[in-house]
Amino acid sequence: SSNAMWGGRFAAGPDAIMEAINASIGFDKRMAAQDIAGSCAHAAMLAAQGIITDSDEQAIREGLLTVLSEIERGDFTFSTALEDIHMNVESRLKDLIGEPAGRLHTGRSRNDQVAVDFRLWVRDQVDAVIEGLTALCKALLDQAEAGADWVMPGFTHLQVAQPVTWGHHMMAYVEMFGRDMSRFRDARVRMNESPLGAAALAGTSFPIDRHMTAEALGFDRPAANSLDAVADRDFALEFLSSSTICAMHLSRFAEELVIWSSSQFRFVALSDRFSTGSSIMPQKKNPDAAELIRAKIGRIMGAMVGLFTVMKGLPLTYSKDMQEDKEQVFDAADNLMLALAAMTGMVSDMTANREALEIAAASGFSTATDLADWLVRALNMPFRDAHHVTGTLVALAESRGCDLPNLTLDDMRSVHDAITKDVFEVLGVQNSVASRVSYGGTAPDQVRVQVKRWKEILG
Ligand code: ARG
Repeated sequence: SSNAMWGGRFAAGPDAIMEAINASIGFDKRMAAQDIAGSCAHAAMLAAQGIITDSDEQAIREGLLTVLSEIERGDFTFSTALEDIHMNVESRLKDLIGEPAGRLHTGRSRNDQVAVDFRLWVRDQVDAVIEGLTALCKALLDQAEAGADWVMPGFTHLQVAQPVTWGHHMMAYVEMFGRDMSRFRDARVRMNESPLGAAALAGTSFPIDRHMTAEALGFDRPAANSLDAVADRDFALEFLSSSTICAMHLSRFAEELVIWSSSQFRFVALSDRFSTGSSIMPQKKNPDAAELIRAKIGRIMGAMVGLFTVMKGLPLTYSKDMQEDKEQVFDAADNLMLALAAMTGMVSDMTANREALEIAAASGFSTATDLADWLVRALNMPFRDAHHVTGTLVALAESRGCDLPNLTLDDMRSVHDAITKDVFEVLGVQNSVASRVSYGGTAPDQVRVQVKRWKEILG
């Protein structure tokens, strides 16, 4: 039999394969609440404008709320023949209230309907992600505050570079996740325009009030061009792009945790709650959560590339290709939320090994730059000369198999005879970090300034 929604010009129903490739109900049922909210707003507007009667509006609204509760209770039979969430809801509404159900779709199309549903869904996710990021930043702030003056090695090229503080390292991630938050907020501002009332693509001859439905659904304004309103998926692409950047940050941090928790580093102990064992090696405690977080970028960036690829050649306005937008976004959103929650749990639970961090901070001639800076300040040496003298001292220490502070004053003077015993004061890691008081530097006082600033921002 032909379709109840659009079967007028069809003599035969679809092939089973046609139905299988066409249906989106398997995944777009996740937008049921948004679909019903959009329909309620549309019906209320139609009544306010005198396009349908108040009693029809009341029947539609009550019917839709019944459908919503059926879906929420798990007491709803989704039908593949009815393709998508929009037609499943409307068909059930017709069973429940009869004739007025047929009036709901006046001045509307599935093209603006799906655009509004999906925007509302993505907007909810943006809010959830911002909440997840806030929780993660708070966990990082706790770590930073506790360890504002714990020293650890700072790395470039994964080689020891200069001593830094644990708090400073934690706060670097607060900056990164803070930028992610602001990216999601920016995207939310741009996506918050209502496509509802664009109808199929050209607008409608009915005297609808798009401002009213926009306001009822929490949008800032109606989208100004009906063609763009139904063709645009920028909001989903921006969500995926912001998610990809955020997943990249999570992945870098996860990689550090994998390295730091290894027995070669022992910088941190991850909690049992966020580790797993091995079925064969009894001693193993593996950082699986960190590894999975590190991997999530793969599917999230994959979703972004996937949707860009779907959208790139599409002529205006709606094409069925666009039905392929949702699964990508759903999967990316679910996995980003999971990764954020797991990272927050790991960060809250992890214990820094202060002793191992401090020993590592002093290794690898990490205070060589402090020595060079001392030569500049105390001996008025040009920095390039100081760099050369220090390099010679590092080579000397290396040949002795010791660190810079273990050289004697005579060793130092054998390289440059104006060096005095005061030089030893700058070779300690505590002095080194305490001296880096430039704005945004690693000195504990600077870290505390930033912790305070972020606490105020996050509330
Ligand atoms: N299931 C469709 C989607 O997800 C809804 C819009 C259908 N519109 C249409 N003209 N066939 O995109």
